[in-house]
Formats: sequence, structure tokens, C-alpha cells
Amino acid sequence: MSTLNDLAIFGGTPAFSEKLHVGRPNVGDRDRLAERINKILDSRYLTNGGPYEKEFEQRIADLTGVKHCVAMCNATVALEIAIRALGMTGEVIVPSFTFIATAHALQWQEITPVFCDIDPRTHNLDPEKVEELITPRTTGIIAVHVWGHPCDIERLSEIAKRRNLKLIFDSAHAFGCSANGRMIGGFGDAEVFSFHATKFLNSLEGGAVVTNNDELARRIRLMKNFGFTHYDQTDYIGTNGKMNEVSAAVGITNLESMDEFISVNYRNYEEYMAELSELSGVEVVQHDDRERCNYQYVVLEIDRQKAGLSRDELLDVLHAENILARRYFYPGCHQMEPYRSYFPHAGLLLPETERLTERVLSLPTGTAVGSTEIKGICNIIRLAINNGREVSERLRSNRQLSQSATK
Ligand SMILES: Cc1ncc(COP(=O)(O)O)c(C=O)c1O
Repeated sequence: MSTLNDLAIFGGTPAFSEKLHVGRPNVGDRDRLAERINKILDSRYLTNGGPYEKEFEQRIADLTGVKHCVAMCNATVALEIAIRALGMTGEVIVPSFTFIATAHALQWQEITPVFCDIDPRTHNLDPEKVEELITPRTTGIIAVHVWGHPCDIERLSEIAKRRNLKLIFDSAHAFGCSANGRMIGGFGDAEVFSFHATKFLNSLEGGAVVTNNDELARRIRLMKNFGFTHYDQTDYIGTNGKMNEVSAAVGITNLESMDEFISVNYRNYEEYMAELSELSGVEVVQHDDRERCNYQYVVLEIDRQKAGLSRDELLDVLHAENILARRYFYPGCHQMEPYRSYFPHAGLLLPETERLTERVLSLPTGTAVGSTEIKGICNIIRLAINNGREVSERLRSNRQLSQSATK
């Protein structure tokens, strides 16, 4: 691929015949998994606190150095339960630059998510802005370790303590990551992991609440099982958040390959960095090598002025080549329903979020992607960016042509 006419968007053949996804699931040792699944089927212990669920919980607790791990069917339910078990009500401060589940987990229980802006250098909640949003109705903060990069845990913890607020970390991206050398999982009142198929460690669907608080862990455990304290007795409202045995077995099997997944991710990230770091208008978001990281996200920031084309134009070029890069977290929770209708002016307080959602692009990585794919992806990005203004111009005139054809 050497001229713009070779690009699929301008009539060339797509570089990849099969679609390349962001977050194609990692799969551990199939034989070990098959053994475990056969054992589950033989025992007919499929769910309800089975041995694999318990083992998965123990392994997560050991790995993160946290006292309690309560495995769940997914991270959204885990967030909902943690929010409820901590007694959050009224208003809770959250970033808008996150997956919609962070906000929905609050709104689902009629708690108002108050969207707070981020620090453009870290993409995480800006503690100073958090403080400005606290009102008498605020009961908590949910911060997100975006891309597995730790939030400013120290300052957020200090604010939560001083203002008597509960603090949850949505650590859906951050399993296997550390903050100041300490594994993520034990900070705040509780942290929540996701083991969804797209996460670097998956249990098909799955999640967990981790906490060092004994009483909170006890309540969360009851709440994920309808509130049952004994046979035929519930003490309070609960839901069904249980993790089934097959999911737990997948989680355990994948944990055994965790180091391999991380080293593949790291190799991919390094290769992307080497290929793209010199390109004008493209910044590869850097992971901090002093911390442990799962390297699950390879994220670019596209500067339209310098690159000559916008992030969305580059996305169109990539999609035409079957490279399904993603605009995480476009357009920001505050621009999605129901929040857009509830808070039509929220954007006024979220300039950094709005700026970032126009710049960010997440690239395919994980064990389904290797050096050949990365070289191919980067060649296309280089060709598009090195001819940014011309690509942008041609895309604009193509759009005008197709608009006038449909009139
Ligand atoms: C930041 C964040 N929070 C919460 C979730 C929800 O996780 P789950 O899909 O396990 O419910 C996700 C999942 O993508 C996420 O990225």
C-alpha cells in the first residue's frame, strides 16, 4: 500500500479480509478448561456458590492482596450492588469519560450521576473538579481507572474522608494493574473488576467486588444472592448477581495464562509505539512502566490541526480496511440518553471530556493480533496521516457527492 488510491476508502482492496476487533477475547488453555467443564457437568454443581466460584474469588483476592473478593455475573451488577451496599443515595460524582455502565449503575437505582471533568493528561477524574461539585445531596464518588491507569487515589481518598463520602473505584479496566506499587483492588471502600469477554482477563461474562471491609463484604455477598441469610429467610432486598461455575472455570483457566496475555499485550503496545510515535498529530497514550499494567488498551490521541485529518476521518479510513478501531468513550455519558435530556447543559462543565472524546481512538490488540497485523494497521495510519489534508479533502468531496446524489 503506497498511494492514497490503494486505500479501501478510495476504491482499493481492504488490507484485511477478516475484521480486526478491539478486545477480541483472550482464550486460555482449552484442555484445562474442558477438564474443568466436564467436572462441573459431572458434579451437576452449576451455580450458587460452587467450588470454582470460591476458588476464583480466592485467587483474585490473593492476586490483588485484598481481604474479600465477591464474584458476580458482571461488573454492572457488581457496581449496582456495591453502590447499594454502601448506602449511596442522592447524588454521586462520576466521570462522563467512562463506559455508560458506570452512570447507569447509579441511575438504575434513581441516584443522580453528577458528571465531573477529567484531567487531560491522565484521562481520569480531576480531584479539584470533584470537590467543586459536592453538594449537601452528594453521598459518594465513583472514580474509574481508565485504560488501567490509576486515578489520583490519594487525593480522592482524602476528599472522600474529609467530606464524609463513600468512594468506589470502577476498576473494570484495571485488573492486574498497580498504583504506587500496590495492586489495584484494595483502595477506597470497594473496587469493581469486569471480566467481560472484551477485558484482558475474561470469564465470558463476569465481575467482582473487592474490599477490605468485612461487614461490607458480608452485605454484598448476601445482596448478590437475593438477600438470603438462611434457607427461606431474607433480611433485606437482594438481587441475583451470582457467577456461574462455567464462568468461574473460564476465569480460573484464563488466570493461569494471565502472564502470557500481558506479555503479548506489552509486545503489541511496544510495536505500536515504535511504529507510530514519530507521526505528527498522533500521540500514543503511554503506560507507566514503573507500574504493573495489563497493557490491554492501545490508545491514540489525534490532533486534527497537526494531523490534517480528524479522528473520525481516520476511523473511516481504518474501518474501510476492516480495522474496527473504536472511539472509546464517545460521545461521553452526558451526551447519551437519558442523561442528555436530564442535563442538557452538562457539557459546559466538561470541556476536557468533550475535547478528548473527539480525539481518542482505540486500536486492536490482544492475543488475536500479532506483528503482521500491527505493521499493516500502522502502514495505513502512516499513509493517511502523512497525507492528512489530502485525505480529509477527498473524504469531504466524496461526502458532498453522495449527499447531492441522494437529493
Ligand atoms: C469502565 C467500565 N465500567 C463498567 C463496565 C461494565 O462491565 P460489564 O460488561 O462486566 O458489566 C465496563 C465494561 O465494559 C467498563 O469498561
